[in-house]
Amino acid sequence: MPTQLKYNASVAENTDVVYIIQPADLGLVPNLSDAEKNFAQSQLDSKGKMIFINRYTYKIYIVVVPEKKTMAGYQEELRLAGHGLQKVLKTDKVKNIAISDLTASNAARFVAVGIFLSNYEFLKYKSKSTPSVLESILITGEEYTEAEVSNLNHVLNGVFLTRDLVNEPHNFQSAENLAEEFVKIGEDAGFQTEVLEMTQIQSLKMGGLLSVNQGSIDPPTFTIMEWKPENAQNKKPIILVGKGVVYDTGGLSLKPTPNSMDLMKSDMAGAGAVAGIMYAVAKTKLPLHIIALVPATDNRPGGRAYAPGDVITMHSGKTVEVLNTDAEGRLILADALSFASKYDPELVIDFATLTGAAVRAIGKEAMAMMGTASEEVKTQLKIAGEHTYERMIEFPLWDEYGKHIESDIADIKNIGMAEAGHISAGKFLEHFTSYPWIHLDIAGTAFLTAPDSYRGKHATGSAVRLIYDFLAAKVKSKKA
Ligand code: BES
Ligand code: ZN
Ligand code: ZN
Repeated sequence: MPTQLKYNASVAENTDVVYIIQPADLGLVPNLSDAEKNFAQSQLDSKGKMIFINRYTYKIYIVVVPEKKTMAGYQEELRLAGHGLQKVLKTDKVKNIAISDLTASNAARFVAVGIFLSNYEFLKYKSKSTPSVLESILITGEEYTEAEVSNLNHVLNGVFLTRDLVNEPHNFQSAENLAEEFVKIGEDAGFQTEVLEMTQIQSLKMGGLLSVNQGSIDPPTFTIMEWKPENAQNKKPIILVGKGVVYDTGGLSLKPTPNSMDLMKSDMAGAGAVAGIMYAVAKTKLPLHIIALVPATDNRPGGRAYAPGDVITMHSGKTVEVLNTDAEGRLILADALSFASKYDPELVIDFATLTGAAVRAIGKEAMAMMGTASEEVKTQLKIAGEHTYERMIEFPLWDEYGKHIESDIADIKNIGMAEAGHISAGKFLEHFTSYPWIHLDIAGTAFLTAPDSYRGKHATGSAVRLIYDFLAAKVKSKKA
């Protein structure tokens, strides 16, 4: 059982506890002896940010909160403090930790998120391991409710679920395996799942997905997940589309191995994200009608593999000249995007580890966002980005970038120019949309090769907290 987040109105006696204080407020920490107070004060005077007091049967951790910068910056500092704390809790083999906020700034939940997310481990393939012993993180205080903390727990478990899916090696995760996982997740969380197989994908004429799959020995899948509660506030559904390339060799336009193909089990991180979001949405019973679509396949060379120079006909009927088989993500997403129009959606958001260009432009610090949705939707997304510190930078979809993908012999081609590759990829997708749409290129944020605080190393679960926050805010604003 992984660590769970729980709620209690107050801190029980004799339990391991974290007090969060402002620098001048040591006096607020209850029941410190004079010796402990003096010790803590001397630590504070030497600019200590974390103070440890070891009682016989339990430990007290005092976290001194940083100066407030922006609200988002302050809350991120708290998550980072949680990350620092998790390392100490691990060394101390703490099983249950209570968090008490003495700053009146809602600090406990952010520290809890930092501890929780830092406590992730992927030990499935370790024959010897010493898993974390942390069982529960208790958020205390009258400013929280049981329901709020339980919702947060579901969202963070959604992040872990996404991380697990993305960390899973390809030899254990074909497109069919991935679809089976979605079915299991749906059964657990309470949403419906339908998996379309090869013959159905053929009758739907999904030429993008079928072409990318041609070199594979495994069939493609197209999964439809649906959460439709009776109290849904939206008449038209919100659709989430996730790139499900379970392994990207580049195909005949083969990738090099180091720092490239060796990371490509993570090329289904968009699919992983939508599954994590659906899990959180269903577990928290969000009153919104939401559908997730995942086209999935691996991308390989092989006897029947699609080749540079091929012209393919997409699900929408448009023709595409394939000039690089490594630009496969846009081909499978395009089919899902045109398929989405049959639901007459209010909004479609796609998630994809789509381009190296997005990584070169903005690194692991942000997602690349673009789209045709309203300024209001984009602003709401950016606000959710500040709340969760899963930030995005918007790039333009100007007509001029459309020229980058003009083809001599087909309607469009699947690569742009040497520059602005993430934007030409966005322009490509735009051709297959006919509704308000947002594209999130998560190539930089979804999978890290070096540890980055509570995001960890390898799969981060990128976009799950962001989109849950965005959707939950939508519900609140409708209620108000
Ligand atoms: N899956 C890759 C993009 C990627 C790169 C994800 C690095 C994560 C980290 C994608 O399918 C791809 O190969 N894109 C090509 C497109 C190019 C051939 C137009 C790229 O970005 O190089
Ligand atoms: Zn590729
Ligand atoms: Zn790819």
